[in-house]
Amino acid sequence: MSHDVHLRTIGTQALHPESLMMGYGYNPALSEGAVKCPIFQTSTFVFESAEDGKAFFELAYGLREPNPGERPGLIYSRINNPDLEILEDRLCIWDEAEACATFASGMAATTTVLLASLRPGDVVLFTAPIYGGSDHFLHHVLPNWNVEAIAIPAGERPEPHEESLRSVIGGRPVGAVLIETPANPTNGLTDIAAMAAMARRLGTVDRPPVVVVDNTLLGPLWQQPLKHGADIVVYSATKFIGGHSDVIAGAALGSAAAMAPVRALRTFLGSMLSPMDGWLLMRSLETLKMRMTAAMKNAGYVARFLKQHPAVETLHYLGELDEGDPMHELYQRQCTGPGSLIAFEVRGGEAAAFRVLNALKLVRLAVSLGGTESLAEHPASMTHADVAKDAQARFGITPGLVRLSVGVEHYEDLIADLAQALENA
Ligand SMILES: Cc1ncc(COP(=O)(O)O)c(C=O)c1O
Repeated sequence: MSHDVHLRTIGTQALHPESLMMGYGYNPALSEGAVKCPIFQTSTFVFESAEDGKAFFELAYGLREPNPGERPGLIYSRINNPDLEILEDRLCIWDEAEACATFASGMAATTTVLLASLRPGDVVLFTAPIYGGSDHFLHHVLPNWNVEAIAIPAGERPEPHEESLRSVIGGRPVGAVLIETPANPTNGLTDIAAMAAMARRLGTVDRPPVVVVDNTLLGPLWQQPLKHGADIVVYSATKFIGGHSDVIAGAALGSAAAMAPVRALRTFLGSMLSPMDGWLLMRSLETLKMRMTAAMKNAGYVARFLKQHPAVETLHYLGELDEGDPMHELYQRQCTGPGSLIAFEVRGGEAAAFRVLNALKLVRLAVSLGGTESLAEHPASMTHADVAKDAQARFGITPGLVRLSVGVEHYEDLIADLAQALENA
């Protein structure tokens, strides 16, 4: 029996991510033979010697380079913990990343990454619309550090905006670009490679912008931003990665060099995930592919039903893009599946949308997405309530818009529920 905990191949067979989620990175011999990684519910770890403690801190604080084969030792659960380390190793597999850091929430991941990348006086570019919490941080927190956030519309080519952006930036350094693609809630796609190239042209050579992609809506199954020029990918792991609407968590991944300042800042902000939640996410990862595949299949049926319904004015779903739509070519180049988040506009504005939401019986009226159960909400007054009204109108967060996260129920039941609810529109 092999004890190579990082085994990735058998003979010439490269093992698939879904096969590695059950055991990768975990050595049962270190835990009394337990087949599953236990919950290391401990704040601190005993050193075998004072010399070990000294050596562990030297590596953790970057005071010297590791000796050949030397791995960071366990110190204190704000710095490292076996549940988080094994979870992080497993998340790296999906995104083909070198390094990962897990966080107490998706917001903790995004804000720690941005704070590690930005300096006072910088500008940060972002695609709009963007998740309401990220929008709040960009517009209401970063200005306190003299950082201005500048929006670029999602769902459009970035290049036509380049010259006007250059004049708004006015020579200030571009510290980072935050791309949320597809955009929450409109599913507008942004070309990561084109945006990264433009950000680098607008930025400085000595400190190029850090290109961050929020991959919550499609990843890690249906989009892998690091392959398209992103430096760091961030997740609300509360969503598909957790997948059962019972844990709040986040993750950031990238090259070891890109992640080093993020991991260092996480240690001092204390924004890391807890061991128990890390353990829950490891359990979730075992079924990640199954869940995301089943939900996506359901979403295809639901989207086709909604598309032909007379009460539905517009449907925003990546699986139903017309071939002539400029986003279609980008979708094919950048994504490997349409996911399971649908947005649709109910004819009749907010009042009609509310009547539909209030009439749902199986689909729950709640924010969040990516869980096994289907959830519906009203972005303009809920997840994106804090987005300025003119920005809501400009970026497609209309009064009649409903966001639907399709779960793994039977699709015929979901369609029956939506059909009876839409009768109230
Ligand atoms: C796209 C996106 N990014 C980030 C977040 C924030 O994640 P969390 O709620 O885990 O902090 C959310 C939450 O809805 C989201 O939808």
